[in-house]
Amino acid sequence: EAEQADYCARIAASLKERDAALVAHYYTDPMIQALAEETGGCVSDSLEMARFGKEHPASTLIVAGVRFMGETAKILSPEKRILMPTQEATCSLDIGCPIDEFSAFCDQHPDRTVVVYANTSAAVKARADWVVTSSCALGIVEHLMDRGEKIIWAPDQHLGGYIQKQTGADMLLWQGSCIVHEEFKAKSLLDLKEVYPDAAVLVHPESPASVVELADVVGSTSQLIRATQTLPNPTFIVATDRGIFYKMQQAAPDRRLIEAPTAGNGATCRSCAHCPWMAMNTLPRVLQALEQGTDEIIVPPELIPRAVKPLDRMLSFTR
Ligand code: 13P
Ligand code: SF4
Repeated sequence: EAEQADYCARIAASLKERDAALVAHYYTDPMIQALAEETGGCVSDSLEMARFGKEHPASTLIVAGVRFMGETAKILSPEKRILMPTQEATCSLDIGCPIDEFSAFCDQHPDRTVVVYANTSAAVKARADWVVTSSCALGIVEHLMDRGEKIIWAPDQHLGGYIQKQTGADMLLWQGSCIVHEEFKAKSLLDLKEVYPDAAVLVHPESPASVVELADVVGSTSQLIRATQTLPNPTFIVATDRGIFYKMQQAAPDRRLIEAPTAGNGATCRSCAHCPWMAMNTLPRVLQALEQGTDEIIVPPELIPRAVKPLDRMLSFTR
């Protein structure tokens, strides 16, 4: 603990000295989330991380999260230096949507508007008409539907399927998935609901349809946190990365928060409700990146003008 406090103090001093701000996702280590808040940075979902990074005046941003979040910050602010605790922190959705295959898929359907989730590489964003996150995807697809547009959606099949069901939009879905959320199990969740009959079930839409069907609220990380403040239930069963419990418990200190079950019948799971890439963000790595400038995010400059367009569209739409 004393060691962790020492890291926090050194990081706070280094942020000031280097005109840097710490931007963290809700799935990162609670110590990093707390530090981001205490030092005037931000803790949020991927949409607000992007907006905060773009609007903050610091010349350096250190992004604690996964690689696509660092790349998004760079695309939106190419003049800033963007550091990450480690660039190895990737995302199964990003891995599952390589640019060559994706671009060939889009070429086969030139009549469709290309909508990609933020959890993608800079090259995939550069091929897209719109970028969305889970907090704005529904609204943006409704807007496109009103304009009569047909859609290519990538990469998360579960979020895409959920939006298709909600809106009735004509969507071709890429078959990617999140290794954390796809572990949630509907059967065990049903059993748990019986144990806590007055609980509300909160589900991130990267979860399988069978789990989403059992939800009282489906939403992005920030929307799920907000739900614990607006719903009257004394208990919440939460199907998303367990990193969220730090902020959720702060937001609703008098409620009981329970993790949704990840594996039925004692079967083993790969991630057990914590993203292995988010977990790579540690205090020593934050300090090292800041002090030594390691893991600086570089986005090929020729991609930036194309990738910024769909991101700016998203930010203007959600303003
Ligand atoms: P949010 O935009 O809801 O924070 O989701 C990001 C993410 O990676 C979820 O797994
Ligand atoms: Fe990607 Fe899933 Fe990790 Fe989010 S939780 S960063 S979607 S692998």
